[in-house]
Amino acid sequence: MIRAVDIHKSFDNLEVLKGIDVTVNDGEIVAIVGPSGAGKTTLLQLLGTLDSPDRGNVYYGDTDVYTLRGKELAAFRGKNIGFVFQFHQLLPEFNVLENVAMPALIAGDRRADAFERARKLIDYMGLGQRSSHRPNQLSGGERQRAAVARALVNNPSVVLADEPSGSLDSVNRRELHRLFFDLRRDMGTTFVIVTHDNTLASEADRVITLKDGLIAG
Ligand SMILES: Nc1ncnc2c1ncn2[C@@H]1O[C@H](COP(=O)(O)OP(=O)(O)O)[C@@H](O)[C@H]1O
Ligand SMILES: [Mg+2]
Repeated sequence: MIRAVDIHKSFDNLEVLKGIDVTVNDGEIVAIVGPSGAGKTTLLQLLGTLDSPDRGNVYYGDTDVYTLRGKELAAFRGKNIGFVFQFHQLLPEFNVLENVAMPALIAGDRRADAFERARKLIDYMGLGQRSSHRPNQLSGGERQRAAVARALVNNPSVVLADEPSGSLDSVNRRELHRLFFDLRRDMGTTFVIVTHDNTLASEADRVITLKDGLIAG
């Protein structure tokens, strides 16, 4: 379970988050919606330990993550949190298999284990024929599926996704969304997804609407 309590965050004089409380249960799919500039990405980054709040706490289970520092925090993040962004952010000079295995290699896993887990996920994503291709040889939908595989390679407890289907056409968007629900069913993955897609939001277990730095509903 992830619990964010009374999260405040400002950039210079701009108060972006004004006291946010969010709980995400294991296996839940939560959508975060709201107008551009509402603070959705900021909140997701704070939930993902990529930035620290000015005030408030984020707990993963019993761990108060912002008491962790430097390497400890990076190791916690690498093990527990997967990220998917609007633009895949796969490394262009590596093939799909290497990209997907990368977080496991960074975490210090044995190469054979990292590649085996990567291969399984790539197969699950229907990208088996694409493992040795580089990102620029894939379609947009395939790249995002590879990015989801990469997010999952360390068996994180949660995947945080920031407008993951924002750059896809409607067919690929539907397919990516279906994949999230399949993964939850098959692996119990928890998802927090920032989205502008009304269909995805309506299919989520819960929708959190951010407005002017507060939860509006
Ligand atoms: N690193 C930063 N430095 C300064 N301002 C920022 C930074 N990140 C976000 N902001 C500002 O905070 C506000 C909320 O941004 P963001 O969380 O990206 O909103 P959203 O994802 O909902 O569109 C915006 O006004 C944005 O310009
Ligand atoms: Mg954003």
